[in-house]
Amino acid sequence: MDKSFQTKKKKGLEILRGGAQVSGEELSKALGVSRAAVWKYIEALRSEGYEIKGISNRGYQLNKSPDLLLPAELKRYLPPGYLGELYWYQNLGSTNDEAKILARQGAPGYSIVIAEEQSGGRGRRGRSWQSPPGGIWFSLILRPDIGISMASRISVFTAVVLAEEIASIIKIKAGIKWPNDIFIDAKKVGGILIELSAELERVNFIIVGIGINANIAKNKLGPEVSETATTLMEVLRHEIDRKKLLTAIANRFYKELDDVFDAGYESYLGRWRQLSIVLGKDVQISEGDKFFSGVAVDIEENGALLVDLESGDRRRFDSGEVTLRLK
Ligand code: BTN
Repeated sequence: MDKSFQTKKKKGLEILRGGAQVSGEELSKALGVSRAAVWKYIEALRSEGYEIKGISNRGYQLNKSPDLLLPAELKRYLPPGYLGELYWYQNLGSTNDEAKILARQGAPGYSIVIAEEQSGGRGRRGRSWQSPPGGIWFSLILRPDIGISMASRISVFTAVVLAEEIASIIKIKAGIKWPNDIFIDAKKVGGILIELSAELERVNFIIVGIGINANIAKNKLGPEVSETATTLMEVLRHEIDRKKLLTAIANRFYKELDDVFDAGYESYLGRWRQLSIVLGKDVQISEGDKFFSGVAVDIEENGALLVDLESGDRRRFDSGEVTLRLK
């Protein structure tokens, strides 16, 4: 489909959004096309899932937008002049993989790669990530001018942003399980996969992959995670506005990323500690094939977890898997 068709279709959609009922004549004038051609734009929008009612002699009325994370829909919630590009796919292997390709091809910072569904979604530690339709699966391309040692701050920041935005938009208290899993009622609802491309000491680009189990029935999550994971829809018993949540998260990155690399970082660390469901708790932590037990006492600036082991030693974990031990 040519570019001018797309541009006019988009303009037509904006006009439909602006009025309760819009006449065919109004649309034909605004788009500079015949009345018959207006109908083609309406049909194209309908095929994308927009519910547009035709009212005889009066024109058209937009009743409902599709529940898809389409760029035209998301842009309404992003600041004007948002610097990143938006890439949308019905199905991808993994948004992180696609984001890497796009970043190498020069996609600007704050670009967002979104998939309605992933066939090869990836989790941390080489795990797969179930990504059926209805979830929020996306990757942000970031291009901060920082050294590698600063990059770990993004993990702390992202976890805080996810927990805070779920609380603010969905009105549900979410917590962080070290290092950056998002939990509600002791079950995982979201995960973060951060990947980095760097040259010598400088970061080239960072991909922040975010997965949130949003409008998914629990039985669609797969048996491997059905005991340990939940979905926002399951907790709330109704669907959420995925566009609002995704763009609220993207907006936080857009506005606050610079603060993460200066003195503002202390505040994110503090909020991570507040939101943590692990600190002060008895934990078992695995590192490779070794297991340690103790009490999680704090995180360090780089996100490492400090644990007071039963042996009396204090040990730092840079990565690993934590299990909460119920007494
Ligand atoms: C984890 O908790 O193990 C991290 C899960 C990260 C999943 C997201 S979904 C969007 C992005 N694309 C991927 O393949 N993974 C991340």
